[in-house]
Amino acid sequence: MPATIIDGVAVSRSILAELKAEVDALRSSHGVVPGLVTILVGENPASVSYVTRKIKTALELGFHEVQENCDPDISEADLLALVRRCNEDPSIHGILVQLPLPDHIDEQKVIYAIDPDKDVDGFHPVNVGRLVLGGDEVRFPPCTPAGIQELIIRSGVELNGAEVVVVGRSNIVGKPIANMLLQKNARANATVTVVHTRTRDLAAHCRRADILIVAAGVAGLVKPEWIRPGCCVIDVGVNRVGEKISSRTGKPVAILRGDVDFEAAREIAGSITPVPGGVGPMTITMLMKNTLASCKARL
Ligand code: GUN
Repeated sequence: MPATIIDGVAVSRSILAELKAEVDALRSSHGVVPGLVTILVGENPASVSYVTRKIKTALELGFHEVQENCDPDISEADLLALVRRCNEDPSIHGILVQLPLPDHIDEQKVIYAIDPDKDVDGFHPVNVGRLVLGGDEVRFPPCTPAGIQELIIRSGVELNGAEVVVVGRSNIVGKPIANMLLQKNARANATVTVVHTRTRDLAAHCRRADILIVAAGVAGLVKPEWIRPGCCVIDVGVNRVGEKISSRTGKPVAILRGDVDFEAAREIAGSITPVPGGVGPMTITMLMKNTLASCKARL
């Protein structure tokens, strides 16, 4: 039987409806709305596309949205000064600096400059530490891993005691999702293995997985024979493999592929996320959730 498709667009929509109700209630009860600043440096097409979607979603939820579009040659000092102004602005509850930044700017310096209590991406080392400690310490779970956890839970896949294999050890996805799913709580309690480019037998590890999370950034890396029958496959890869003309707009658009051979994998897996339309929409949704949580914490 082909796998159930985990529809990230539908799950996102229902979470956004929940968030919208909370934003409306907050406005009525306290006269406050969550404030999000999106800081974009330059015009990297992927970054422009991500930021545009973040802004659109924030506006649909009724957030106070501030767009800071900076010249690609903005100095590091000026960007740091902008971040500090946002730290001080009481109408801003979340600061999003879209990555990557141009080579002349030290990304780490910029992330470190964000007030950890407005770091809705969850990238500041204080928030990384809080995530590792778990429990009540966690303020802002990073958005893509938080979206993955939510997709697994809302699909009814059991995490308690599950064998989870994470392919990839990035700071944005691999490391945080591994930390989140091994925590001692009802939304986690998994046995987690992290594998990467230096792992000796990737296939053998993947074959053990009840839940396989792939965030390697290599199109089609995971072969169907690596997937255990019935496995829940979460494909985080967004690889641009070419361009096509959109039938809707007549303009060129990227052809996207995941890290998993989707068509073959869906014949073996129990459930699987598509690319696009799986994890992607969840990242933006969880950013909104973190910004709302930040606003509520300020009250
Ligand atoms: N670039 C790619 N993904 C992300 C993300 O989740 N947050 C930020 N700030 N930049 C990104």
